[in-house]
Formats: sequence, C-alpha cells, structure tokens
Amino acid sequence: MHWFNYKDSEFYAEDVPLSRIAEKYGTPVYVYSRATLERHIRTIDGAFSGIDHLTCYSVKANACGAILRLFAEHGLGADIVSGGELFRALRAGIPAERIVYSGVGKTPSEMEYALNSGILMFNVESESELRVLNEVAGRLKKKAPVSFRINPDVDPKTHPYISTGLKKNKFGIPHDSALRVYAEASKLPNIEVMGIDAHIGSQLVDVTPFREAAERLAGLIGEIRSLGVNLRYADIGGGLGIRYNEETPPDPSEWASMIIPVIKQAGCSLIIEPGRSMVGNAGALLTRVQYIKKNVDKTFVVVDAGMNDLARPSLYGSFHSILPVTDRKAAPAVVDVVGPICESGDFLAKDRELPLPEEGDLLAVMSAGAYGMSMASNYNSRTRAAEVMVSGGEDTLVTARESWEDLVARERE
Ligand code: LLP
Repeated sequence: MHWFNYKDSEFYAEDVPLSRIAEKYGTPVYVYSRATLERHIRTIDGAFSGIDHLTCYSVKANACGAILRLFAEHGLGADIVSGGELFRALRAGIPAERIVYSGVGKTPSEMEYALNSGILMFNVESESELRVLNEVAGRLKKKAPVSFRINPDVDPKTHPYISTGLKKNKFGIPHDSALRVYAEASKLPNIEVMGIDAHIGSQLVDVTPFREAAERLAGLIGEIRSLGVNLRYADIGGGLGIRYNEETPPDPSEWASMIIPVIKQAGCSLIIEPGRSMVGNAGALLTRVQYIKKNVDKTFVVVDAGMNDLARPSLYGSFHSILPVTDRKAAPAVVDVVGPICESGDFLAKDRELPLPEEGDLLAVMSAGAYGMSMASNYNSRTRAAEVMVSGGEDTLVTARESWEDLVARERE
C-alpha cells in the first residue's frame, strides 16, 4: 500500500500534486512518501514483534540520508555492504550496534572502519575473508563479531540476476562446508562467533523458500552448537517482493509466519534485512515528456529520465508502471518510453499501452523507491536527479540535483 493517488485527474504524493514538485524542483526527480515509509516500518518491523528481533534495513535499496534518518528515528538498524554505506548509516544516526555488514569483497580498510565503529557483526562470506578479518582485528586488539553467510541452496524462484542462495551463486559458504568453517573460526583468537546468516534472493513473491532457508539454518544451528559454539543470532536476510505490476506479493505477516516459529524453536534472536519492501513503493520517479517521435511502425515517448536514473528496466527488463500526472483521458497507444541516452537499451518501458501523452506532459514511474536512485549513474555526463520527501501537504528537497560542476569536482589538473 502507498500514498500515491489521483485526486480528480491530478496525481498526488500524499497531499502534494506531483505537478507542483516538477515545477519547484525540475525533472527528473525522485519523490518519496513519508507516510508510506512509516507504514512499511510498522507493517514489516511490526510483523516480527512475536520474536526478539532486529530489523536491519538494507541500505543498498536506497541510501538517501532522509530515509536513513527516518529509519534511525524508528529504531531500525542497517544491513550494509561497503564502507560508504557504513558512513551513511552512522551519519544518519543508526547506532553501530545495530549494523550488520554483508558482502563478498570487504577490504581490510573497510573491516578496520567497521571494527573501530563497533558494529554488531560481520556476515562473513568466505574462509579467506575470515582469515583477513582475524588479522585486522588482531592488529586493532579487538575481537571481530562474526556470523557466517551460508548458501542454503534454496531456489527463490526469482530473476536469475537477483537469486543469491543457489549453489552456483557467488554468495556465502556452501551448506556442506559450514560445520568445518565454524569449527575453524571458533579456534581463531580474534574472532567471536555470534550467529548464522542467509539471504536467498530478492523480489520473492512466494514465501515458502524463506521457510526452507530458515529450516536449513535451524538444522545447522543445532549441529554448530554441538561443537560448543554459542550461536545467538539467526539472520534470514531480505528479499520480500513488492507489487510492480500484476504480482500479488505476500503480506509481511506471511513472511514472518514462515520464519518466526523456526527461529524461535532454534532459540536465536532474529535479524531481518529488508530493502525493497521498505522503500520500493514509497518512491516514484517523476519525468517530463520531451518529444513524441514516430518511426515507421513505432511510437517513442522520449522523456527526460534515462537508464542512468532508473537502470532496472534496461538491466533486468523490469516492469515499472507509468502513469500520467494529469489524466486527460487520452486515447491509449502502444509506445516505447525511452530516455535521452545514446543506447538502444535506454528505455523505461517497451511496447507499453499508455494514454498517449503530449510533449511537455509529466509521467510518474512507479515503484521506483528501491534500487532506483541507489543505482543511478552519471552516464552520458548526466547529473543525478534531485530527491524530494513529501509528508502530508509538505514537500522538502532532501537531495539537490547534481550540477555540472559536481561532475568535474573531483578531477585534478
Ligand atoms: N541482504 C543482502 C545480503 C542482500 O544482498 C540484499 C539485496 C538484501 C538484504 C535486500 O534484499 P531486498 O529486501 O531488497 O530484496 N538491484 C536489484 C536487487 C538486488 C538485490 C541485492 N541484494 C533490483 O533492482 O531488483
């Protein structure tokens, strides 16, 4: 559920017409609804109230400071995958002791930063990483708190690029090697083993793989404890799907019901790492139609947002619903909505039936709050979009549009 709706024929974010935002801040611009974000905190974090748990928002979905600050105010933690994300999370007021650090390629200097900050734990993804972490912690005279990310070999039945818990994926430690790695870790002087972790993929619309993954972890928890290792945390990752088109994603309570009984039984505190489900439907990308262009048998709607602003359609063929900001009840036409970038892959929608817009019209690209701005680039030397937070009838610029000067600001000579 989200707070983007038509009132008469005008499209609003909460009580602010999107046309007003376009006028004030220009386009393309990302617009976020605070009420929607707050609702997601209540429904997702709230769904797990039956178990001792920590919701670590996955910062990669959207690292906007205003969103991180809101989550910090509500007591959420963070799941980070880089020193940059740690910097942003701490800066936004998320306490280090609520931060978990995932990712296959942590560098020694990132490890040092995280150890000095006092994060809750590292989700370690390989034996080589474990050895490096042990050395770095030793140098700092600290003990590194560790969970191992186990690859449970569970099929999440989602897009291959965002499946992560299959044997063939680069993530985690193979299920069959887990015991050996835990035994090895428990002997290392600068490592404190705290938990176990899995993340099987993203945009799951069927919750049964989550139960399978939780059960695989629970089975291991018993075996690991029999080695004399005290596991306190089970981290089940993120992955809950959202509605982009016709999907019927599960309610967070269904997600929770797959996981809570299994992890409770295992006697662990639960960590969840939701990203997309927290922010996806709380954001829209607002763009203006530049040209309507007809080529033989195709109509192209050329807009001022491109694949550098929202990469998902080009990268994964993802569907994002596109709505007119002023609904003039135009006759529908089948069009490609394309950006200004010099690549045929630069599209926001292909062969899509839309009310045919006119040049100068505004369009809202929906469900763009997750993996939208966070994956934006400067390709074609385009400046990255502004971000605006709406709350009730108020709109606030939370990230200014990049300038041309910003594009060259780090160049020397
Ligand atoms: N935890 C870990 C270790 C992850 O790798 C991810 C996402 C999450 C949590 C959050 O998952 P979520 O709740 O958002 O599904 N760029 C792609 C999605 C990549 C997801 C990467 N990992 C997209 O636009 O669909």
